[in-house]
Amino acid sequence: MFLRPQPLAAALSFVTLLCAGACSDKEAPLAPLPEVQGTTAATDENPSQSIVEVSMSAGEFEGNLGGEVPLRLFGYNQQSPGPLIQARVGDEVIVHFTNNLAEPTTIHWHGLRIADEMDGTPRVQDPVQPGETFEYRFTVNDAGSYWYHPHIRGHEQVERGLYGSLIVHAADDPEYDAERFIILDDISLDGEGQIAPFSLDNHMVQMHGRLGNTLLTNGKMDDPIEMSAEQGHVERWRLLNPSNARTMSISLSTGTMRVIATDGGLLEHPYETDRLEIAVGQRYDIEVRYPDAGAVQLLSNVFVRDESNEVVEAAFPVVDVTVAPSETEMRVIEWPVFEPVAERPVDEAAAIIFDAVQDSDGIKWRLNGVSHNEDPLFVFDEGATVRFVLDNQAGPEHPFHLHGQFFKVLGGDEPGFKDTVLVPGQSKVEIEAYFDNPGHWMLHCHIQEHAALGMMAELHVTPRASEE
Ligand code: C2O
Ligand code: CU
Ligand code: CU
Repeated sequence: MFLRPQPLAAALSFVTLLCAGACSDKEAPLAPLPEVQGTTAATDENPSQSIVEVSMSAGEFEGNLGGEVPLRLFGYNQQSPGPLIQARVGDEVIVHFTNNLAEPTTIHWHGLRIADEMDGTPRVQDPVQPGETFEYRFTVNDAGSYWYHPHIRGHEQVERGLYGSLIVHAADDPEYDAERFIILDDISLDGEGQIAPFSLDNHMVQMHGRLGNTLLTNGKMDDPIEMSAEQGHVERWRLLNPSNARTMSISLSTGTMRVIATDGGLLEHPYETDRLEIAVGQRYDIEVRYPDAGAVQLLSNVFVRDESNEVVEAAFPVVDVTVAPSETEMRVIEWPVFEPVAERPVDEAAAIIFDAVQDSDGIKWRLNGVSHNEDPLFVFDEGATVRFVLDNQAGPEHPFHLHGQFFKVLGGDEPGFKDTVLVPGQSKVEIEAYFDNPGHWMLHCHIQEHAALGMMAELHVTPRASEE
């Protein structure tokens, strides 16, 4: 059985129905959106309740990540991470974008099922040249935690700080005492504390991607970011991994996490875990409870070399929450009702093979035997349900990402809708994808260096002939 999110067409007609006669400016004021801690929200310049209009520029700036020296970073509106864009299901989002960088860029809205011409890849738009502008305009129909980033030269532009978060709220989202956005990144610094030079020539980088040597949480390094909470509170944390190549593995210092949402929004059946792996590009929302006063830390577990040069796992606190004592009774979280949706018969089966070839220039990563594919790897009809075997035949893990659609991971313990899934080395993962959004879409490995070295392709979803 497949439950929310609704197929796009259904969601759209729902919105249309609601608006037939009721969408004037005199609509009753909606409850304000929750303030999301850990980020700076973008300013909504539009007074209409159903339009979110923001101005955004990409540019280089001198930033401080908390280290000794200021760094030349890239950011949106002079900040990294960029501003949080907040919208409601059905809203129109308008982004007035200016490129103040010295190189072309685009903005891709990772995970959003929007019209393909707004997807921000060089396959669907001309990159925005230095000094030029572009207006992104799209409607958001799926509640969840998303992010945005450039889709050219991502291995450098994203590493230097060009990315930000986006939330689509649903009217029936459960209420929490607080919401936070926590962005788990890393960065590669040289001996002087400057951003290490970028090169795709190095074999290690070609093989594993640019693994940072410094963890960055919400754009800060070294000390954990400090947060405060109250005993008895229950919070929603939205987690994102925008790093170039590192899978994050997180845990809490006390208690377990309850996973309540994935890339495609809330889970019908949240689950508890004490370790969560977040592949590059993925989002997970977790529920964090504070039954006791004291301290709770979010730990990032990474492999390091110890004094005897052995590889060991070490836990780094990246968020430090001070929980103040309180008599507050713990909130009961009311879970929304999930409408049953009929199971979808599988229309097609397909395979995607991940491998590489090596020539005198180094490694070229491939999908189905092609590096930097130009012609569509697949053509599906709108509405098709396709079962894929993701077959990793070469090298390390590959976080596979599909634009503009959601899929489910079959046969495992990864419930929920996703747009990104980790395919471990030398193994296969099966997914079922729902091609409900017509257009030209990219599919690629989200390790930025693998994508830059060819592990990037396109597929087409042919629109259903209109009924009129
Ligand atoms: Cu996060 Cu093709 O993108
Ligand atoms: Cu994407
Ligand atoms: Cu890869």
